[in-house]
Amino acid sequence: MESLHINANNEMRLPEKLFTQYEHSLLPEIERIHHAQSSAYKNVYASVCLPSDSQILKQVQTLVAEKTKSALPMVIVIGIGGSSLGTKAVHEALHGIYYNDKKGCPSLYFAETVDAQELEDLLSLTQAVLEKKERILINVISKSGTTTETIALFELFLALVKQYYPTTWNDFFVITTDNDSPLWHFGQRHHIASLSIPKLVGGRYSVFSPVGLFPLALLGTDIQALQAGARAMAAQCTRSNMQDNPAALSASCIAEQYKRGIYIHDLFLFSTELRSIGNWYRQLLAESLGKTTASGHRKGIVPTVSIGSTDLHSVGQLYLGGPSYSSTTFITIAKENKNCVLPHYQEFETLVAHIQTKPISSLMKAITAGVIHTYDSQNIPYMLITLPEKNEYFLGQLLQLKMIEVMYLGYLLEVNPFDQPHVERYKIETRKILAHE
Ligand code: PA5
Repeated sequence: MESLHINANNEMRLPEKLFTQYEHSLLPEIERIHHAQSSAYKNVYASVCLPSDSQILKQVQTLVAEKTKSALPMVIVIGIGGSSLGTKAVHEALHGIYYNDKKGCPSLYFAETVDAQELEDLLSLTQAVLEKKERILINVISKSGTTTETIALFELFLALVKQYYPTTWNDFFVITTDNDSPLWHFGQRHHIASLSIPKLVGGRYSVFSPVGLFPLALLGTDIQALQAGARAMAAQCTRSNMQDNPAALSASCIAEQYKRGIYIHDLFLFSTELRSIGNWYRQLLAESLGKTTASGHRKGIVPTVSIGSTDLHSVGQLYLGGPSYSSTTFITIAKENKNCVLPHYQEFETLVAHIQTKPISSLMKAITAGVIHTYDSQNIPYMLITLPEKNEYFLGQLLQLKMIEVMYLGYLLEVNPFDQPHVERYKIETRKILAHE
């Protein structure tokens, strides 16, 4: 089966013996993650069990079948951070950023934060659908079941739905949470369909759990292919040989740059529709590694996201002409699913030469190659990940590669990549302030 491809060896300009050293030091962690795949969610690496979990797949498929028996024009995902970013990433990559405008059915909206204006707009859109007596489905997602933003949003949408369906409102919601959280118990009390997230799977590693699978499947996404891609990549990313293990290779390159004082890592995606993959990775890298080690050292890599070719006209000059503050991973797609061809207007040849009658993707390819060429000629280190095409299988591979890469980075930087103690602090402080208002 075809796989995404990573180029890092010559591109990173690192001596070969360094890769051998990293291979040696990562070996115990590679073995732990390898064994975790068959450990039935027993340890912190639990998320690697998700792509092979046929029970979760079945639960999701059964609930999707039930909830789509009659026409469903609108779905709203309520959740924040790891509870929404993965779904948004896969959704936009597959269905495009204009999906709702193209009248994709069901339309999909995300209620992520308590911004008054944004919320007002989404509530009015929802009300308009309810007024027409059309169905909606609201998926409330929170691992802890106690996140202030998520619960406040749930309350607002609940009040709205109750106005129209005072007795059957519970049919309009699905809860996804830990099966012992306060939210879970709320769902059980009110007979709301609920899906559980395995205990040791944290938010930012949960895209292959019901957190991502349920809303994506509601939209007709091939979640089996997504899981199959993730499974295939997990197998590759637990190989002991560094050159056959994309996550170990990528983690070693980023860790080595970090050791050399390069604390910024840019994910440069040559596809607008992968923009939210960039935002998902931004959270994964930042929240997993921004920590203090057991010996008291503050660590962390600052993730940035750039979109080709738009950001070449924004940050390109800095990357090519400024100081070497960051390392880069480029992501490109070999074969675009859609491709318009430029017409032939002779007069335009005088504006930009050699673009007439060419497919638009060949322009993006030329720009990408031009950028890579410039990095090479200036000896700027980078990695290149190429997806054969943009589909569920290769997106599953990409997300799994990045999650295991971050686990390896946690090990190399000596931090726990699975917790977020300082985020919890802000949550506690917010609750204190609200209690005294
Ligand atoms: O990755 C994480 O664990 C966090 O980003 C959480 O997903 C985020 O804080 C939301 O938490 P919860 O899912 O408990 O509402």
